[in-house]
Amino acid sequence: MPLPEAFMQELKARSDLGEVAASYVSLRRRGKNLVGLCPFHGEKTPSFNIYPENGSFYCFGCGAGGDVITFIRRIENLDYMEAIRFLAQRAGLQVPENAVDDGMAKLKARILAINRETARFYYEVLNSEQGAPGMRYLLGRGLAPGTIRHFGLGYSPASRYGLVDYLEKKGYSQNEMILANVAFKARSGRAVDRFFSRVMYPIIDLRGNVIAFGGRVLNDEKPKYLNTSETPVFNKGSFLFALNFAKGGGAEQMILCEGYMDVISLHQAGFPNTVATLGTALTPGQARLLSRYTKEIVICYDSDEAGQKAASRAIPILREAGLLVKVLAVTGGKDPDEYIRSNGRNGHAKFKNLIEACGNDVEYRLQKIRQGCDLKSADGRVAYLTEAAGVLATLENRIEQEVYAGRLAEEIGVERSAILAQADKIRGRLRKNQEKKEFRAFQQRVTGFRDSINPEKSTHLRAASAEEALIAYIAKYPEQAISISAKLPPEKFVTEFNRRVYRVIMGRMIDGKAISLTDISAAFSVEEIAAIAKIFAKYSDVSATGKDAEEYIQVIEQEQMKSNLGNADSVPAQDIQTYLRELKKQKK
Ligand code: GTP
Ligand code: MN
Repeated sequence: MPLPEAFMQELKARSDLGEVAASYVSLRRRGKNLVGLCPFHGEKTPSFNIYPENGSFYCFGCGAGGDVITFIRRIENLDYMEAIRFLAQRAGLQVPENAVDDGMAKLKARILAINRETARFYYEVLNSEQGAPGMRYLLGRGLAPGTIRHFGLGYSPASRYGLVDYLEKKGYSQNEMILANVAFKARSGRAVDRFFSRVMYPIIDLRGNVIAFGGRVLNDEKPKYLNTSETPVFNKGSFLFALNFAKGGGAEQMILCEGYMDVISLHQAGFPNTVATLGTALTPGQARLLSRYTKEIVICYDSDEAGQKAASRAIPILREAGLLVKVLAVTGGKDPDEYIRSNGRNGHAKFKNLIEACGNDVEYRLQKIRQGCDLKSADGRVAYLTEAAGVLATLENRIEQEVYAGRLAEEIGVERSAILAQADKIRGRLRKNQEKKEFRAFQQRVTGFRDSINPEKSTHLRAASAEEALIAYIAKYPEQAISISAKLPPEKFVTEFNRRVYRVIMGRMIDGKAISLTDISAAFSVEEIAAIAKIFAKYSDVSATGKDAEEYIQVIEQEQMKSNLGNADSVPAQDIQTYLRELKKQKK
């Protein structure tokens, strides 16, 4: 059942896109519109636009677009109903619950409930006789009982049906358990516990929901960790372990590790601002999420080669998200957990010293390059400076560039200006490549090349352009809608997608009031809404007159006739006459 119209109108009135977006993006006014750095992709020049007059946003960089609901769906990673609830809560409105019947939202709620029960089950097992091996293991790794409780750690019993039986008694179906990925389907068709004989780490999101689990074996068996795969409530690239604890501190700085154990160990040692990725390489989404809660990241990955490589890859991703980056390499110990433990009581103080002494990412990268060059030979020094200039070229801040160029100049005994000149040269090349790439992507988007939402656009470019211009015109000048709809019924539209948009907009033209994207969003998918937002964005600065609208209508009519002529056999002779007459009229 759809939500009542009155509720949607109220919600819309109280959810100004500009205000909502301002808590995620810093926005500047440009004319009637707002612009800022796009929160959906990394960029340095703002191409994210908000058009208050029709409640839409569009990013010319990545093509993200939509209304306030789509914005919340994307930025908070919610489905439609969840986004409505989120906005309603923000606006102080009650969602009429009996109207809500959203299959996906219900399934998600069931899975979260299963996860919560599952975490409780593992926790109880750990604290029972059955969990003794797990408890022995965790205590043996130096965790205090308080830490085990704080993280809600648990143990999955050796029996293959312990959890399934427990959840079944609580009223969950085997199918739901499989969807939650806490069980898998055996060949017999019966659900079997997915985790057994492992210590269990629940992953808890920012709203306190258990969204996934990591499970570790107690010995050297493989795989060492088993993690929840993708489920309707979990995507491993979009959250971080322990961010639920770390975000609270208003931390100026967060520590980013690789392993669950590193996080737990550092929290116990007095660093509650520590988080970890969920067993995969850091994603831009995770970096942006971090940037909402802190300014600076100290990367603290394993000291082995794999860890250091992963650190190098994480640096640009974090920088791109606007974070300051430092890199800490632990010495004497493979990972932060081992470092803390091997230093016993002095763990906290020593690790704190490491953080304070650790260099930023530029120093780290320069040091890595230096290690790979033989500075005793002239060739080695040239290679060092050339590669180092490549690092300086990636820095946005001229002062930063000058500082490092100065240090390098002194170290090697060359002119600072020579290093800077080299860096500028590389920077120019990088920028050109970037511009080329952006231009190509832009071109593809504006010409509608490979437009999956309106696939007819590529073969009917002239018609589709006129249709889009007319759609944007009606949205802007709703008082013209009635006369236009009299002149041009939807059937005359050439491309099917635009015809649908036109029809829906005309259907919503109550009292000639301006419509916003939210008014029509229920009739379209998220991708379609983005396409419509793009149309609005494209024409937002075009001030069209009634005469322009007439012209759009004419073009659409002509193109419609032309496309019918495409199979001339089926076109009555009279139509061809009309078409030719029209064409003559145009020429005059
Ligand atoms: P300990 O050996 O208990 O100290 O583990 P750790 O927390 O130090 O983890 P490690 O550095 O070995 O690995 C880092 C992260 O990668 C882990 O926390 C897991 O998320 C993930 N990971 C490690 N091994 C596996 C594996 O075998 N399978 C999967 N899927 N993920 C793994
Ligand atoms: Mn470890």
